[in-house]
This record gives sequence, structure tokens and C-alpha cells, in this order.
Amino acid sequence: MNELEAKIKIDELTDELKEHSYKYYVLSQPTIGDTAFDLLLKELEKLEESYPQFMRNDSPTKKVGGEITREFVTVKHKYPMLSLGNTYSEEELQEFDNRIKKSIGDDTSTSLSKGFEYVCELKFDGLAIGLTYEKGKLIRAVTRGNGVEGDDVTNNVKTIKSIPHQLKEGNYPDEFEIRGEVFMHKKTFEKLNENLKKELEAKGFDEEEIKEKLYKNPRNFASGTLKMQDSREVAKRPLDAYLYFLYSDIPVADNHFDSLKKAASWGFQVSDHYQKCKSIEDVFAFVKKYETERFKLSYEIDGVVIKVNDYHQQQELGFTAKNPRWAISFKYKAQSAETILQKVTYQVGRTGAITPVANLTPVQLAGTTVKRASLYNADEIERLDLHENDYVYVEKGGEIIPKITGVNLQKRQSDSQKIKYATHCPECDTELIRKEGDVVHYCPNETGCPTQLKGKIEHFIGRKAMNIDSLGAETINGLFDRGLIKNYADLYDLKYDNLIGLEFTLGDSDEMKKRSLQQKSVENILKGIEDSKQIPFERVLFALGIRMVGETVAKKLAQHFYSLEKLSIATMEELLNVHEIGEKIAEQLFKYFADVNNKLIIDKLKNAGLQFEMIQDHSIVRTNKLQGKTFLVSGVFTISRDDLKKQIELNGGRNVSSISKSLNYLIAGDKMGPEKLKKATDLNIEIISEEEFKQLIT
Ligand code: IVH
Repeated sequence: MNELEAKIKIDELTDELKEHSYKYYVLSQPTIGDTAFDLLLKELEKLEESYPQFMRNDSPTKKVGGEITREFVTVKHKYPMLSLGNTYSEEELQEFDNRIKKSIGDDTSTSLSKGFEYVCELKFDGLAIGLTYEKGKLIRAVTRGNGVEGDDVTNNVKTIKSIPHQLKEGNYPDEFEIRGEVFMHKKTFEKLNENLKKELEAKGFDEEEIKEKLYKNPRNFASGTLKMQDSREVAKRPLDAYLYFLYSDIPVADNHFDSLKKAASWGFQVSDHYQKCKSIEDVFAFVKKYETERFKLSYEIDGVVIKVNDYHQQQELGFTAKNPRWAISFKYKAQSAETILQKVTYQVGRTGAITPVANLTPVQLAGTTVKRASLYNADEIERLDLHENDYVYVEKGGEIIPKITGVNLQKRQSDSQKIKYATHCPECDTELIRKEGDVVHYCPNETGCPTQLKGKIEHFIGRKAMNIDSLGAETINGLFDRGLIKNYADLYDLKYDNLIGLEFTLGDSDEMKKRSLQQKSVENILKGIEDSKQIPFERVLFALGIRMVGETVAKKLAQHFYSLEKLSIATMEELLNVHEIGEKIAEQLFKYFADVNNKLIIDKLKNAGLQFEMIQDHSIVRTNKLQGKTFLVSGVFTISRDDLKKQIELNGGRNVSSISKSLNYLIAGDKMGPEKLKKATDLNIEIISEEEFKQLIT
């Protein structure tokens, strides 16, 4: 590499790493894994070492990491929040041990010659937090930020049950800081992400958008949560924390191990998985043990942290610009396995979107057997250049669903054919389409593709739609396959005699069970269908499953047009007049109402007695007094916040959830947060009281 090439490469790497840093620390939405990031960083470090003249001032190798988010108050750390050096191999760990030995272990001239010991701990994969306690009371919780200063997230941290707000009587110092890691348990993550997915679906986001918005792993979810502005939202997303380091001007012990024990005795949650190690061999054993044990834990770890135990020795060893010399982390590589790609199959969603799935020869990976991996879309297959019977590498990093990261080209057969993306729907054989600029293929046979039709019926009966919970996916399947229902309107034709004694097969082909409908279930199904006729219009509209018309959009449309009749004849202009309804949604509405089949279905539903109009409450007064104005409601009022928001909407105004330049009014109640007030004042936003708001609408 010549000088020019080196300069270009350093520039490129710097920019790339800065971008990744921003995505990781600020957006909490990284696009590459930790290992890949570290490798890039190491590459840059090496180049900078050889060509220091090209090292940029903003080089990520100079920084501890992180950027600061704007919304929180920034607090300077009393003790800088450093990160640890990373190692990936036993050799590097051995080198670390050699360095320590050289500095203290073999030195017979000082009192530190008695040898040393390590403490091995787990490296929790979450976000670092520093908690300051005064007289046993939690007074501040600050994120790492850039290592020098971070965000004050005390209110959010107070929602974490395992973090004490007040310590019981004890012999702790008057003032100290304890550091640890905030994280989310794997189970909690899966459940919440699943809910979030449903919420996004209900709001009309398409599959691609949902995939982008979902949290990739528990760490991102925890990070996104901790940075939320509304602590009540944070409380709904349970986080947890392990504490692992104590800072105090008056030492409470002369080594780290004893400090951890003390912290635990004061009421802090300290992990049980830590251990004193007398030699580097003991450290290797600890590392080895958790390489497999980690998959049994309820949370994710990405390695092991090794710390010199004795505080004097820690002091002696000191720090480099970025890291303590007395500690290091050993990071586990993302778990990867090699297996054979048997075939690619395709799943069809209710909207016709096609998802390719890699079917693999089962292989053990990170404690589970992997048989399938997501392939996302045709571009991904192209990017990986997948061929039939390829030996592929599957990886389970932070992500829950394994993915294919590459192909072992050495094992590819010379005559092996490239994977050709499906041209026809696997369910109904209709030719697939892919619109320009779209990454997803669709089956356009909306009215004939059985999987789409069944999916639409399942959506129709869903809890947030018609809520017919006595029907499930299996019953729908059985009814559909027998020709008893072809669409959701047919549900309203079902009679007792059609259903009694009907036999269904449950489960997948591995484990089939038969069930037949008995009197009680039939009665429940019919009652559920009958009751659904009272479901209000906005939910009926959502239940129809019009593309991009999720729960929120349906609500807006219903409140604006009052009836399906009016909505179905609305012009583009009228539709665009409804806030947040854009051209894409309008187009889908036109398409839906223009379809003869849909017209027939709607007529049938109308005849069955479903609600196709808003029930008007004449006691409610509506005005346009607040037309075009936006409001943010913050604090406590004489009426509930929801009622206040409703009044805003009834008078034509719009509620927003954050302060920006375009906000018209901030309605300030009691106990409103000082940050909000400051931000609104800075942006010159009109701040009014509840009383003043009432005057606006009377
Ligand atoms: S000790 C100077 N112990 O890993 C002491 N850190 O790259 C530094 N981490 O920022 C921290 N588990 O967010 C320590 N048992 C553990 C840890 C741990 C996870 C994180 C922490 C830190 C990063 C270091």
C-alpha cells in the first residue's frame, strides 16, 4: 500500500466507523455486528500506527465511543466511563496476562510482589450506567455517552425494579457511584417485539417497514427504551440491571471482589456468575465454561470481563488513553455453523408479500437446532449469490432468527445452479410481481390465493378487529378447506348444522391431532360471530384488511368520514385532507373500493348487520376552533390527559407527542418536567394553562 492508498483507506474507514458509531450509540439501530465493527476498528488502528500523519482528529480510535443524544440533560462523569480493550483469542489473553505479570507479578522490589489474582465476570450485553447514591438515596443515573459526559436518565432508571431507590441502613459511604449494565431479558424482548410488530401492523406499516422498525436484539431494545422521553413508556418495557463496579472516594474494601460482595449486601443486584482466578489457566477455564453456559442464561452476554482484583495493583497498572490496563474483555465470536442449503421455499403473507426462507440441513447452533434461516428478499439471495446445495454459514448473533452470512465456495459443486427466485406463487401459482423500487415480490391474486384469503379472514377475526376469539386459525383453515367460507363475509352465513361435528386436523405434519367441533364450541363460535355485529365502525374498517389501513389510519378515516358510504366515494383531495393520510394510502383505498369482489363482500356484511357508520353521540360538541393547530399536553390537569386530548380533537386540533419548532401550543399542567419547559421556551412555543385552553374553545 502506498501513502496515497493508505490515506484514502484511513479516510474511508474513519467515515464508515463514525457512521456505525452514530447508528449504534445514538440511533440504537446498528447495521453491523460488534465483531465486524471491532475488526474495522482494528484495521484502522493498524493503519494509523503505520501512517500516523493521516490520522484524523475525529478518528473513532481516539474516542471512547458514543455520542450524546440531545433530549436529556448532559452530566459530566465524576470518574470517566472508560471502555475495555477487547480480545478474541487465547493468545491475546495470554499476552494480557504477560503484560500484567511483567508490570507487577515478577516485580520483587515492591510490596506487590506477592502475586495477583483476577476476578472473572460476565460481559453483559446491554448499556453501561453509572448510579450515584448520596446517603443511600439514588440521586442520579447517567449513561456512558461519550465517556466524559452522558445523559441523565434517572427517571427512566427508576422504573427498573432491581435498582434500589433507597438503600437500607448499612455501612456504605455517604457518597459513591456504582456502575453496571442495563439490559433486557431475552424472553421480555421476544414478547415486546412481537407486540410491537402487531402494533405496527395495526398502524398500516408494510412488512418491509416493520422489519426495519423492529428491534434487532435485546441490547438495542434496552438502549432504545432507556432513551425514551416518557418514563411511563419505559415502565412498560421491563429492564433489568447488574452492577459490577464501585467508585468511592473512601474505599470500602481493598479489592474488587470484596467490593462486589459489599455492594450485594447493601441491596444491589450483583450477578452470581463471577469468580476469583489465581492464574490465566483458571481464566481460560472460566471463558470456556461460559462459551456454552451462556445460552442457558435468561439474558445475553457477549463475553467475559477479566479484572485484576487488588485495588493497589489496579492503580499501579493505571490506564491507557482509552482503557484500564488492569482489565480486559474476552469477546465470544458470533456463533456460526456450516450446513447445507437444501432448498429455498416461499411464504405468502395476507397482503401477498413473499418471504423467501432457506431450508437447511439441521445443525446445532447457540444451543438450538437450526433448520431454517430468513432470506428477507430476492436481493439478499442475489447478494449472497446462493447456489443449490451450497454449504452456507449460518450465524446467530444478537438476532433471534439465524441468518446466512456467506457461502463456503470451496465446497460448491462445479455444476451447481444459481438459485432462481420463484416466478409464481407457491400457493396459487399466479405469476409474482415486483414493483419498481420495491424489494418485495407480491402475489397479485388477492381474491383467489388461498393463503392470502385465509390470512385476511384471520386478520378479520383478530382481537383488535372483530374480536371473534372463539374462532382460531385452525378452525378458519378447516372451514376454508371445506368450502364453507371463501371470505370473511361468509362467516355470517354459518349455521349450527354446518359446524357441529366438523373435524379438523391440528398442528403441523410432525404431530397431527384431530379435533371435532362439539356443541359448546359451536355455540361459542356462533355467539362470537353474532356479537361482532356490535363492533364499532372504525374497527370494522380496520378488519376489512385494506392495505396500509391499520388501526390508527382506520380510526382517523372513520372519525373523518363517519360512514363507509362517504369514505368509499371520497375524492383524492378529500382523502388527502385527512391528517396523515398520504397518496399511498389513498391509492389503496381507491383500489379496494373499485374492486367488484370487495363491493359484493361489503354488501353482504352490511346485510348481516355490521356497523358501517359511526354511532353519533349528540351530546358531544364538535367545532373547528382549533383547526390546523397542534398541541402537546404535559403534566397533571383537573381532567384526565386523555379527556383533554379528546377535547383538542373534537375541536379540530391535533395532538403531537414531542416538542418541535412546528408545535403551536404546549398545554402545561402541574408537575410538568423542566426539560420540556426549557425546550418549549427555547423554541418560542406558546405555553398555555388548562384554563387558557378552555378559553380557546369556548
Ligand atoms: S467493567 C473500567 N464489567 O463492557 C471498568 N464492564 O467495553 C469498565 N460491561 O462499558 C467496565 N459487563 O458497558 C465491566 N462485568 C462487566 C461488564 C462490563 C459488561 C460493558 C460495559 C463497558 C463495556 C466495556
